Amino acid sequence: MATYRITFARSGASIEAPDDLPVLLAAERAGYVMASSCRNGTCRTCLRQLSAGAVGYRIEWPGLSADEKRDGWFLPCVAYPRSDLTIA
Ligand code: FES
Repeated sequence: MATYRITFARSGASIEAPDDLPVLLAAERAGYVMASSCRNGTCRTCLRQLSAGAVGYRIEWPGLSADEKRDGWFLPCVAYPRSDLTIA
């Protein structure tokens, strides 16, 4: 298991996150509240944008368009860190 650093650009806060835990859950375990609802990649309530780093998914195609993914948008409830991340 790898551990990555997730930085929240707006607040400057950062947390350590294992690669086997969705970003949303890692943030919650660290006491950082992020918006969420369905927690399964369909409602888009948790939608955030990366300014740096990469995430991966275990589901075939989470509720994002190809353009959104290219522009760094991701769904923290189902996205796993694959590098250090900076969330815009
Ligand atoms: S909480 Fe619904 S898509 Fe993430």
